[in-house]
Amino acid sequence: MRKQIVAGNWKMNCTLPEGKKLASEVIHMVEDEVNNNAEVVLIPPFIHLTGIFNLIGSSSKISLGAQNCHQSQSGAYTGEVSAAMLVSCGATYVILGHSERREFFGETDELLAEKVSFALENNLTPIFCCGERLEVREAGDHESLVDTQVEKALFGLSEDQIRKVVIAYEPVWAIGTGKTASAEQAQEMHAFIREQLSAKYSREVADSISILYGGSVKPENAKEIFSQPDVDGGLIGGASLKSRDFTNIIKAFD
Ligand code: PGA
Repeated sequence: MRKQIVAGNWKMNCTLPEGKKLASEVIHMVEDEVNNNAEVVLIPPFIHLTGIFNLIGSSSKISLGAQNCHQSQSGAYTGEVSAAMLVSCGATYVILGHSERREFFGETDELLAEKVSFALENNLTPIFCCGERLEVREAGDHESLVDTQVEKALFGLSEDQIRKVVIAYEPVWAIGTGKTASAEQAQEMHAFIREQLSAKYSREVADSISILYGGSVKPENAKEIFSQPDVDGGLIGGASLKSRDFTNIIKAFD
């Protein structure tokens, strides 16, 4: 059985009091209302990690994640945060390769390969993001682009390491646009990624890796997307900032 995961990427939103309010609401709603075993991951900005970690306490359903980390252990990298620092604040997950990091901060697949292996060395679970821009899909090149992203960033990993990675397929044209990939489009790409993993490692390894869908997931479309056989949950942006919407997305697994 693959792990089902619903992760809320807050991006650069929420002051600390706003973040604490949001997290408290989600924690209570999950405790009171959710009847499934999906793991919920709250992914606030770095600076709120400790504050949110203290609220999560010993909840067995809710984990903490970060939105990025540097590829070195420590040193003269002003403004950066290391994997070890994230772990020391209670994070167990880290998003790597989000399309906004690729687009606005120039992150390449080569850099992401370094970040992924560094995160793993520090016992952080990478949520590795891949996905195509609209023009790439329109040209029919989406599979080959995702193939390259996954191969370059992940295929230097050993079998033991790749088992610890979570993959998020996020078509760039669906992020924050209100346009969601159809359930069929999501399933098709997830199955493609799983085939790639199977060809490189083994069917058993491929079947053990959780692949999340991201891009305008809402309470209204979550059930249909999550019911696809190769979709193991979601990476949620906008809707994770509303406790009711986020909880209803988690409940799509009930
Ligand atoms: P969205 O963002 O849900 O607002 O489209 C998803 C993401 O960027 O991970």
